[in-house]
Amino acid sequence: MVQYTDELKEEIRSANDIVDVISQYVTLKRSGRNFFGLCPFHKEKSPSFSVSADRQYFHCFGCHKGGDVFTFISEIERISFKESLEFLAERARIELPTVENSEFNKTQYLKDRMFKINAETAIFYHERLYKPLAKIAQDYVKQRKLDNNTLKAFKIGYSGEYNELYKMLKSKGFKDEEILATGLVNKTERGEFIDRFRKRLMFPIMDVSGRVIAFGGRKLENNDKMAKYINSNENLVYSKKKHLFALNLAKQSDSKQIILVEGYMDAISLYQRGFNNVVASLGTALTEEQGRLLRKYSEQVILSYDSDGAGQEAIMRGLSILENQGCDARVLQMEGAKDPDEYVIKYGSGRFKLLIENAISLVEFKIKMVKSKYNLENANDKIRFLKEITKILSNVDNKIEREIYIESIAGNYNISKEAIYAEVNKAAYNNNTKFNEKNLVKPAVKQEKVIEISPAIIKRENMILYLLINHFRESYEAIVTNISLDDFKLETNKFIFEKILESPAEESEKILQTIANIEDAEIQSHVSEILVTDYEISSIEKCIEDVVNIYNKDRLANRKLEIVKELENSSNLTKDEIAKLEQELSEIIIELAKRK
Ligand code: UTP
Ligand code: MN
Repeated sequence: MVQYTDELKEEIRSANDIVDVISQYVTLKRSGRNFFGLCPFHKEKSPSFSVSADRQYFHCFGCHKGGDVFTFISEIERISFKESLEFLAERARIELPTVENSEFNKTQYLKDRMFKINAETAIFYHERLYKPLAKIAQDYVKQRKLDNNTLKAFKIGYSGEYNELYKMLKSKGFKDEEILATGLVNKTERGEFIDRFRKRLMFPIMDVSGRVIAFGGRKLENNDKMAKYINSNENLVYSKKKHLFALNLAKQSDSKQIILVEGYMDAISLYQRGFNNVVASLGTALTEEQGRLLRKYSEQVILSYDSDGAGQEAIMRGLSILENQGCDARVLQMEGAKDPDEYVIKYGSGRFKLLIENAISLVEFKIKMVKSKYNLENANDKIRFLKEITKILSNVDNKIEREIYIESIAGNYNISKEAIYAEVNKAAYNNNTKFNEKNLVKPAVKQEKVIEISPAIIKRENMILYLLINHFRESYEAIVTNISLDDFKLETNKFIFEKILESPAEESEKILQTIANIEDAEIQSHVSEILVTDYEISSIEKCIEDVVNIYNKDRLANRKLEIVKELENSSNLTKDEIAKLEQELSEIIIELAKRK
């Protein structure tokens, strides 16, 4: 929708003198500085309707209606305020910006067109699934046991060949640049338009309100060279980390739980079997934004990831995100199937329900993970196991909860209860004293700041310093050109990084020496922590590349948000400035998509 600027409103107002306009409806007589007439809004015999030429206002002393020329027209013509504006613009022959040419609304308009394209595309793919030419897709959904209600609920479809989608969209009047912006069609170097998704089973991705924002397409051929899924790239209306597949359906469920799965097929398959509270994170690590969404729409999240190693890794990350946000998260444990889809087909929904009921807590899951590393028959391993679980248990604040865990561990792993209690109490005591000491040394304000920063960020920053200290030659160049002082959140880290930047030293020993010369107990203790932590670095080069990437991506993403904001309030920008911003925005979107 076009929104007219205040400037334009003023232009129209001044081109329509209120006395002239009203005179077309009411016979006005001058009396001093004002004009009088019979009020057109109520029945009267003597004139109480007054119009001020100076102030360009009207007022009726009888019925108390009043306002400016726009109010008058919208009242008398019974049209909206906006229509009165258009009415008077026409009267004064002022050209109004149309949807297509209004710079002000360009981004908004483009988004709107993209939503429309996505919606049309979903329908196109879905209808195509029922055509005879879609036999391969029909056979496939049968083989995957998807019923027709499910195909409808998720608007599952079958994509065309070559440029069928492009042709359909063009026939509906969409412009090339609008189509390209959705990423559903690509332009080749030779200038040809080719559909991104071809002959794939299509899953539309919808936002919470059910608007189609992106697609995933599964291959149907048994061809190892093809990617199993391809998905829409990020674009103006789709940001992968901010959405969860099927949340639009799950939010309608009465359940206070949400089951979080990895794949399209897991969500769809569970939904079909009565679990209408399922969402999928689509194979990526759960993000903070997704965590917030989950908390918003549920009271408890059941993580039901694939049972392979990667799935277990993803659970650890997902759990810590949800835990940091104060979410009650539990882990569903599955044996005998690689993912929820396979499980529920093999064992039925009753058994899957049992798995949900038996989902374990974060602490139990962590203990299980630790256990899997050790052979408890071996005395040394048993000691290490005890040490590690002690750390986990000492962080459980609730005493009763802690006791329950200890009882169950003692029973399950054949370790004496007393031994666990002794270790846990020792660790809990250490935790407390450390905390108290910190409280004493540090001024309160600083302490608050430290608490807000997430452990993941601190660990990342620590690792950067670790790289600089221990692998100076390999890392210095890349780090200082890509990461700046302001990127550091933890004051202590910032301080150390500044020292490194300042230091004329070119070698690692000297940096360490410089830092060692700083007489500050807190810094020394932090540095020692940095140096002793295992960052599980397998390749220095890769590690530097990854960490630099994270910062660059953050910067791009922040800039993207900034530009979008600027464009949304672009009334004070020139055409040139807007064009520049839009250019930059599209470059960033492409760059971010490449780095995904
Ligand atoms: P899975 O390989 O577990 O897929 O990947 P799935 O949903 O169980 O599909 P089926 O059962 O093999 O048909 C989990 C998710 O990771 C993303 C998809 O979102 C998928 O649903 N993924 C996977 C991709 O984006 N690309 C891929 O090549 C593979
Ligand atoms: Mn699967």
